[in-house]
Amino acid sequence: MRILVTGGAGYIGSVVSAELLEHGHEVLVYDNLYRGHHDAVPAAATFYHADLRDEGSLQMALRGCDAVIHLAGLSLVGESMVDPAAYYDNNVRAGLTLLDAMRAAGVPRLVFSSTAAVYQASAGPLREEDPLDPQSPYGETKLAFERALRWYGPAHGLRHCSLRYFNAAGATATHGERHRQETHLIPLLLQVAAGQRESLTLFGADYDTPDGTCVRDYIHVADLARAHLLCLEALDSGVCSAAYNVGCSGAGYSVRQVLDAAREVTGSAIPVHIGPRRAGDPARLVANTERIAAELGFHPQHRSLHGIIESAWRFAQRKAP
Ligand code: UFG
Repeated sequence: MRILVTGGAGYIGSVVSAELLEHGHEVLVYDNLYRGHHDAVPAAATFYHADLRDEGSLQMALRGCDAVIHLAGLSLVGESMVDPAAYYDNNVRAGLTLLDAMRAAGVPRLVFSSTAAVYQASAGPLREEDPLDPQSPYGETKLAFERALRWYGPAHGLRHCSLRYFNAAGATATHGERHRQETHLIPLLLQVAAGQRESLTLFGADYDTPDGTCVRDYIHVADLARAHLLCLEALDSGVCSAAYNVGCSGAGYSVRQVLDAAREVTGSAIPVHIGPRRAGDPARLVANTERIAAELGFHPQHRSLHGIIESAWRFAQRKAP
């Protein structure tokens, strides 16, 4: 297939693009490089340096495409709490521009990068049919786009899957996490371990969780990338509209457990300070992954938290100046 990957210069998008190329697809990366990196775009992909709100570029890029994988957008819970307008603009307005351009170009398949932030926190693993009640503008805007798909799909013959990512982490041999302003737990811990930061502030130790810190479901980015391929195959074989959790399932890991694992992997003491809660952070987000396992045959290959952190550590060291 000829596939347009929006946000393909970003962390997850670059891994998805590399995976698609490896499976023989033609890949066009569309990215405004606001958060992404030009050198993360795989050499074999065609690169459009353009914004989704630029309808002319979008129409040109979509010509002859069989599918779109839509990852472009803003994705930071904390940032969205203080700048919701940017999230509505990037995640909803630009997303609708993409849908209109796909309609005009007759592109019939879409895989959308949604998020676990569409759910409310829950004591047990989250199923797709659980209540959707985002606690942040980030989750709200991702849900708004999912909901638009629900109506655009049947009206315009668009087949679509939304992948609700839990916490993407880790790296492949060639691609990993490189945010200009890092806010994510694992890369921050590794920056402390590498001596690039003095310490980590742990955002709240008074949550209603076993050790008081937030629990998340960390999934290796290579596994996450593979889920996109499985969605494309499913859309090709008749699936019209679906939402899937993409996590590792199980109990998840608390921030303290991730900290301990990072200390073991790096051999560094990694000093931390307990700070106040970060606005918008749900206490616990862990996936029930039965639906994606049953319907797409998706089973994460990289289940060990240590293995995930080791891969990120190798990548961080490779990139260290
Ligand atoms: N954390 C800290 N200190 C830090 C950074 C993070 O204590 O300096 C904590 C957070 O409070 C949270 C956990 O580590 O409890 C994970 O935080 P991240 O920022 O790494 O990730 P989030 O859970 O906030 O969000 C990520 C993605 C979202 C996705 C979400 C789904 O960024 O896109 O996972 O669970 F929606």
